[in-house]
Amino acid sequence: MNFHVKNNVYWVGKIDWELRRFHGDEYSTHRGSSYNSYLIKEDKVALIDTAWKPFAKEYVENLQGEIDLKKIDFVIANHGEVDHSGALPELMRLIPDTPIYCTANGVKSLKGQYHQDWNFKVVKTGDRLSLGSKELVFIEATMLHWPDSMMCYLTEDNILFSNDAFGQHYASELMYNDLVDQNELWAECIKYYANILTPFSSFVTKKINEVLALNLPVDYICTSHGVIWRDNPAQIIKKYLEWADSYKENQITIIYDTMWDSTRQMAEYIIQGIRESDNRVNIKMLNLAKSDKNDVITEIFKSKAILAGSPTVNKGILTSLAAMLEEVRGLAFKNKKAACFGSYGWSGESVRMLNELVKNAGFELVNDGLKVLWNPDSEAVKQCIEFGKSFAQMTK
Ligand code: FEO
Repeated sequence: MNFHVKNNVYWVGKIDWELRRFHGDEYSTHRGSSYNSYLIKEDKVALIDTAWKPFAKEYVENLQGEIDLKKIDFVIANHGEVDHSGALPELMRLIPDTPIYCTANGVKSLKGQYHQDWNFKVVKTGDRLSLGSKELVFIEATMLHWPDSMMCYLTEDNILFSNDAFGQHYASELMYNDLVDQNELWAECIKYYANILTPFSSFVTKKINEVLALNLPVDYICTSHGVIWRDNPAQIIKKYLEWADSYKENQITIIYDTMWDSTRQMAEYIIQGIRESDNRVNIKMLNLAKSDKNDVITEIFKSKAILAGSPTVNKGILTSLAAMLEEVRGLAFKNKKAACFGSYGWSGESVRMLNELVKNAGFELVNDGLKVLWNPDSEAVKQCIEFGKSFAQMTK
């Protein structure tokens, strides 16, 4: 399937309806994804990015239906990650001398992965490539989200080819942001930001401000995953600036795991306390053993505070909590508060360990936590409710 985008610009990518796990097993893609590639047929012809390796043959065959490959003057590799470069070996086998425009780091990542000495042309921010009456302007986007990442801008048509930035893992043949279900779209946008881009938030802010300072009119943002932004593309830029700025909503998320329900009961009494103290805060209670990891990360990203709960097992905590807090440490969320809780039968180390992990993950601990011996009795129930009330007050 190919798709006319605007004037002489065509989408020649691949919609992957079946994708459910991305980055190995790291990212859940409940709604599939797409690998967007664009063909610009001006006096000179440029191809921007390709598709993921499993679709390499299909991608090239489809492209041949759109153009004689020998007519492609320039290949632009905005980013070397395999979901965008995976079809390059298949393509370059057929047009081996065609120049590939990428950053200096792009050469390293492409050579490192494919071990081919293609005809690389290194570009940097501000370099221009003439396609005839229009030009491609290159904009390095280092660490958004790889060292090699780059965007490019098509003059006259005012299209920003943003690669991963502003994308979503979202399969839809409707193609445009204004045509798809808005709840689905924004849920996928924030999940993508929370799970992939959060560690690079300072780069996001800097790069967006740098691009805005260029005063380039942007009519379309053609991303490398998901929909094309054509209806008020500034809206996703504005959202990125918000998300990059220590984002939080009025939400508390309880992440926990439980062996025999005692820690779960604690979580529910804590919620009762939060609710008695604050009837507006949004509360999410997520059992990590039963929840999708990336959905949980998205909820934590949205939260102003979290509560982490685990019973003590073998003088430690349940591994679901340990794994999640390690993930969250790497994502480096900012400006969020936390407290910990858990039940125990004899030694009772879990809360102390959770406190350390939560602190190391960059959260501000608001108290020493709450531990309850065996199942909560009436006194412990009161403690949990009070704990919830005080947490709500301290995180208001
Ligand atoms: Fe969509 Fe960083 O690759």
